[in-house]
Parts: sequence; structure tokens; C-alpha cells
Amino acid sequence: MIELQGITKAYPGAGAPSVSALDLAIEDREFLVLIGESGSGKTTTLNMINRLVEPTSGNIRVDGEDALAADPVALRRRMGYVFQGAGLFPHLTIAENVGITPRLLGWPKPEIEARTDELLALVRLAPEEYRNRFPRELSGGQQQRVALARALAARPHIMLMDEPFGALDPLIRDDLSEDYRRIHGDLGLTTIFVTHDMTEAMLLGDRIAVMKDGLLVQVGTPNELLNAPADDFVRALIETPKTRARRLAQALRDAP
Ligand SMILES: Nc1ncnc2c1ncn2[C@@H]1O[C@H](COP(=O)(O)OP(=O)(O)O)[C@@H](O)[C@H]1O
Ligand SMILES: [Mg+2]
Repeated sequence: MIELQGITKAYPGAGAPSVSALDLAIEDREFLVLIGESGSGKTTTLNMINRLVEPTSGNIRVDGEDALAADPVALRRRMGYVFQGAGLFPHLTIAENVGITPRLLGWPKPEIEARTDELLALVRLAPEEYRNRFPRELSGGQQQRVALARALAARPHIMLMDEPFGALDPLIRDDLSEDYRRIHGDLGLTTIFVTHDMTEAMLLGDRIAVMKDGLLVQVGTPNELLNAPADDFVRALIETPKTRARRLAQALRDAP
């Protein structure tokens, strides 16, 4: 379980805090989607969990342990991190990219190789075809699959994902999010997934946490948000997929 208690981040020199007194608990094996407009504090919140950003105040507990007192390196080892734009090392092969953390941890070579092949298969890239290629020889979607495999390499049980598929074409993106939802369940992961796309949020999330101007406006299941939005902002946001579907149906009716 991940517990954020009164978490605030005020970057030095900035005006209002980027995240204000945020309380949120994420259960084991939960898929939590963090949604909000650009600048609402999603990335800052995510990065405080793995301590890439230090909170100004508040507490964070991970599996009952005080995360702010823990060794950041040991803490991050329990967490996979995937962000937009795969961030692969261009001069390393796919297998070397995937195996980077196990190598740092000193795993024996045969174990790293077996784990790499297992992970490539998991993200549906045939190992014999892809392991010796370089990132530039892969499409954007395939590179993001490798980034996902790399994040999973050392068997983290928590996954932090910051708009991981945001830069991809819609079809590829749907494929990848469907695959990731399956992997989340199969591996029993706890996932915090940032997006600004409500359709993606509703399809993926067990619960959705809505942020606005550094505040957590509401958290609930997709149906809870639909049936009882906390305010007009949440109502508009949660109804976006339906509104778009209605507009599309209308446009098709009006089309010649
Ligand atoms: N390193 C930083 N220094 C100063 N301000 C920052 C920094 N990172 C983010 N911010 C500010 O904090 C706010 C929230 O940013 P961010 O967490 O990146 O939002 P989101 O991911 O929802 O787009 C924004 O106003 C942004 O400009
Ligand atoms: Mg962001």
C-alpha cells in the first residue's frame, strides 16, 4: 500500500504550491489513474513517491515504511518507472536496455538473459527477433514496449507511469494500454498511471483521482465519478468521452 498524507510541494521561487496537502491511499494491486490538466501537479505527485522530488511537507508510507526516511535507491528498486518517450539508451541493444537494472544489481549473466527474453515475450516482442536490435530500429510503440520491459526487469511490485503512451498513435496506444492492463493483473502490480485522457482513465482505472491546481478534487471508481461528480469540473471531465461519442454520432448523422 502507498499512503500519501498531507503531501505538499512548493518549488523554490514558485508562487502557489504545485501540490497542496494531498491525501491519497493506493491499495495493493490497485490500478489508480491520476488525471488532470497540464500543470495540475500530476508529475510532481508521482515523482514524490519515488523521491525524484522531495516533498516540502507531509508523509509518504510505502508498504507501511516511511518512504521519506528510506534510502532513495532502495526505495526506487521496488518501483518501476515509465515516462513519455521511451528514454532508451541508443547505443545499447534492446536486450542490454532491458537488462540494465539486473546488471547493476549484479545478477548472474544467464539469469539476466533469461529474464530479458521472458520480459520481451511479456510485452509481445519476439525475443529472437528483437533482442539484438538497437532502439532506432524499432517503432515508437515498440520502443515504449521495451521501456516497459526495462521497468519490470528487477520485479518491482509498484509501477509509476507518467503519460507513458501519450506520444503514440491512437491505435498503438490502445494496444499498449490493453496489454499493460493485462500485465498489471497477471503480475499483481500496484500501478499509478498518469494521463490527461479520460477515456483511457475510465478504461484502465480501478479508481480515478482528479487533480486541479495542485489539489485532489475527487477520487473514486469511474462509476462513482459519473454518478456523483464532486463539482462541475469533474462532471465536465468525466463526461468528455460520452460527449465526444454523442458529437461523433451527430456528425455521422449529418454527414452526406
Ligand atoms: N522543477 C520545477 N521547478 C519549478 N516549478 C515546477 C517544477 N516542476 C513543475 N513545476 C510547476 O509545478 C506545477 C505542476 O507541474 P507538474 O507536476 O509537472 O504538472 P502536470 O504533470 O500535471 O502537468 C506547474 O505549474 C509547473 O510549472
Ligand atoms: Mg506531467
